[in-house]
Amino acid sequence: MNDNLPEARPGLVQRLWRSVQRDPLSPESDRDRMRLVMNNLILHLHPSKVAARTLRFNYTFGLGGLLALLAVIQVVTGVLLMFAYTPSPDSAYQSMLALQTEVPFGQLIRNLHHWSANLMIVAIVLHLLRVFFTGGFASPRQFNWVLGIILLLLVVGANFTGYLLPWDQLAYWAVTVGSSLIGYIPLAGDAITRLLLGGPEVGAATLTNFYGLHVAVIPLTLFAVMSFHLWRVRKDTLTVPRRADEPGDVPVEKVTTIPHLVSRELIFALVMLALIIAWAVVFNAPLEEAANPDHSPNPAKAAWYFMGLQELLLHFHPTFGAIIIPGLALLGLAALPYLEPDMEAQGIWFRSIQGRWIAGISIVIGVLSAALFVGLDEVLLDLPALLPFLPTVISNGWVPLAGILLFLLAYYEGLYRLGATACEARLAIFTLLLAAFFTFTIIGIFFRGEGMALVMPWSVIP
Ligand code: HEM
Ligand code: HEM
Repeated sequence: MNDNLPEARPGLVQRLWRSVQRDPLSPESDRDRMRLVMNNLILHLHPSKVAARTLRFNYTFGLGGLLALLAVIQVVTGVLLMFAYTPSPDSAYQSMLALQTEVPFGQLIRNLHHWSANLMIVAIVLHLLRVFFTGGFASPRQFNWVLGIILLLLVVGANFTGYLLPWDQLAYWAVTVGSSLIGYIPLAGDAITRLLLGGPEVGAATLTNFYGLHVAVIPLTLFAVMSFHLWRVRKDTLTVPRRADEPGDVPVEKVTTIPHLVSRELIFALVMLALIIAWAVVFNAPLEEAANPDHSPNPAKAAWYFMGLQELLLHFHPTFGAIIIPGLALLGLAALPYLEPDMEAQGIWFRSIQGRWIAGISIVIGVLSAALFVGLDEVLLDLPALLPFLPTVISNGWVPLAGILLFLLAYYEGLYRLGATACEARLAIFTLLLAAFFTFTIIGIFFRGEGMALVMPWSVIP
């Protein structure tokens, strides 16, 4: 009857439904075109094929991917926080309170930003350890290792500048303690401190400086270096995991990135996101009373990731504790791939079976010697009093540093003579120093109470 009436124009839902139903293999299909775009995007990040073995979770533990995910979470939550946050000493703290009580989901967004920032430190250290212990830093990946160290500094810098923003007692005093370390840089220390803080101490200008660094300079640099790092991973390809008794040139099976790698990445990212959100729902980020520059807490501690450094300062002359020893450690870390040009153990955890034993023993020696050093220094070893005729920079700087270097040299030589290869002996020194630094950090966080005296952990944890 109504044959001549024009056909009604299909609605949006109908059109979408039809496009989904079209033959996916037809070049005209929208879905096909969409897939092409997605695949192209993915293949800009990844090669089209990867070695099947690199997909094993217990090789990379997904740590690099987790770091990239955390960086994205930080940008998203950080931008949302900017809508509620005012960077001035008069209003910063108030804006944090308002964020937590008046802004819908404000507390959750703050919690997400706070906990992801802390997780970033843990994940980046674990990623560095994974790369180190599987030999992923050696040629041809040495440049990417150096990029990684820059990323490490940027993540610590983002955490340090962000720490001040809530402007509570914790923030104010942790940043005061942290930035006082910079003052010990010989000659330029004062000038750098003034430049960073915008004056002789933490104040309004510091908050402005840190805010600018935190929301613009550091994130932009971080994303630029991160993109470079990820591109280098693609170019250099990932080290292929292998057993200690396997030769390096066995042919490895390859699989296509889509779907094998991408599906794993997606599932891992979703699981991690769910866990982080669940954690942020349950645990609130700390906020103490408003910053009071006239009343310092006792003990005044730096942020937890700087406690190893603060512990070092209790035992060495400040120029050594704050600058020379950390500077040497950082230089050593950056130089690592250039010291081991003949590394053939890439992809093997701890280089060899013997290497595993050596790493284990080095952890035990590192932990014990650091704890012994702290204990001895506390009760017996007062070097400036024993060597009163020397300036403290020598008695409490050069002398203990020389002692430590001699100890390391003896350990290296000893292992070498007992049959370790040069590569395993270097692994031992790195592991020992790392274990010692972790022990210092644990002592600083859990065993230092009022006046930074040694106490039992239950009197430190509230
Ligand atoms: C790697 C990246 C980042 C890290 C590690 C990081 C870390 C932190 C930390 C530790 C805090 C203190 C949180 C607290 O205890 O309350 C903070 C606060 C803040 N961050 Fe970030 N952040 C990052 C990126 C960003 C970005 C990209 C923005 C904005 C574009 C941003 C904006 C803010 C704002 C507005 C605050 C103050 C609010 C608050 O303290 O909760 N952050 N950040
Ligand atoms: C924001 C920080 C970082 C991100 C997003 C990141 C990301 C990644 C990703 C996705 C991979 C490949 C998969 C994996 O190993 O998990 C990787 C590999 C690598 N990363 Fe990182 N990384 C970061 C920090 C670092 C640091 C601190 C270092 C070392 C100092 C480092 C050195 C390397 C090296 C050498 C590789 C290649 C390892 C191999 O081939 O086995 N990265 N990184």
